[in-house]
Order: sequence, then C-alpha cells, then structure tokens
Amino acid sequence: MLKTRIAVFVSGGGTNLQALLDAQAAGKIPSGEIVLVAASNPKAYALERAARAGVKSVVVERCACGSQEAFEDALRRALRESGAEMIILAGFMSILSEAFTAEWPERILNVHPSLIPAFCGKGFYGLHVHEAALTRGVKVTGATVHIVNEIPDGGPIIMQRAVYIEENDTPEILQKRVMEQAEWKILPESVELMCSGKVKIENGRTYCNE
Ligand code: GAR
Repeated sequence: MLKTRIAVFVSGGGTNLQALLDAQAAGKIPSGEIVLVAASNPKAYALERAARAGVKSVVVERCACGSQEAFEDALRRALRESGAEMIILAGFMSILSEAFTAEWPERILNVHPSLIPAFCGKGFYGLHVHEAALTRGVKVTGATVHIVNEIPDGGPIIMQRAVYIEENDTPEILQKRVMEQAEWKILPESVELMCSGKVKIENGRTYCNE
C-alpha cells in the first residue's frame, strides 16, 4: 500500500511531533509516513526529536527570509524536495498565507489546544489558550484537530476530545493535561484517518467512512 508522505511543521518543544513519531513506530499510522520536519525556529527541540527518529529536517525562519513570500517559498521548496503530500501543523507558530493554504486544499491539519470554537483564532496559541480558558472559568476544555483553510482555526473539524479543568490548574498544568489526555491521542488518530482517505468533507463538516 502506498503511504501518504507527511511533512510536520513545528516551532518549539515538539511533543505532538513526538506523539506522531511514536504512533508511527508503533504501527498506528499505517497509511502515512513522516518524511520531513520543518521548523520555524532553529532552537526548536522538535529538531532533536526528528534527528533521533532519523527523519529529515529543515529550518525555515520567517525573519531570516525577509518576507512572508520568501518564507513560504522556502517551505514550498522543502516540501517539493521531500515529496510531501500532506502537512501537519504541530505547534507551528508562524502564520501561513491564504495563498499558501489554498495550494494545499484539505491537505493541511492543525492541532489546537481548546475545543474550537472556544478560545481560537487570532492571538490564541500555546499557553495563551489555557490562560484564556482559566480566566473565563470554563469547567471543560480540550483539544481539536481540524483541516486548515483560509480562516484561522476555522476549517472543518476532524476530532475533538474534552478535558476537565481542575481546581488548582495553572495554564502550565492545564496545558500538560490537555496534551496528555487529548492532543497526543487525537492527532495521530486524525492523521491516520486522513491518510487512509476515510474522511469525507461536505459543507464544512467531516464524516468518517469506516
Ligand atoms: C500544543 O499545545 C499545540 O496544540 C499548540 O502549541 C503547543 C505546541 O506544543 N498549538 C497552538 O496553539 C496552535 N494554535 P508541542 O511543540 O510540544 O507540540
């Protein structure tokens, strides 16, 4: 069976990348293969994780490139060279333009640390998301994997998982629990679903044909 070639875009610690690498090693992503890790930050620990797993990586820094266009052209080149067919944004903190996302229709996935449409869109990334959830006083939060389109965090949802808030949560404690209980589970599962072609998208909603 031909595997879908996957590029993972990262910016930081790369624990979601690790979840994907571990799932792949455990045979849980039989329909896909991670062929490239692209980091927007040369200090990203995710680069170590890629190296340890023997996956090719590149660093493409927005500021070193000078313009958004040059940044995306460098990403395009790396994608072309790797033969990637699908992109996973796993803690990727740089913005991709509408032109770029339009070139990859229904082929970019993102993991977001809340139950979309809560605490998402512009300014909601990383720890800020958990700060906002705690400030609002919600009792349940979670994570979402969705398809990326031109609307920030607005594409069709593939999977979500809820996580309960606990009384002594800080943003850091909550972030860790959301990762452990939700992100690291639903990201590999969603990637396999997409790579296996089981996800049908209609009118902004996804359906799974098992
Ligand atoms: C994760 O919680 C991910 O959901 C979030 O950043 C963290 C990256 O951690 N992404 C966003 O907020 C995107 N809007 P990681 O580098 O350890 O995977």
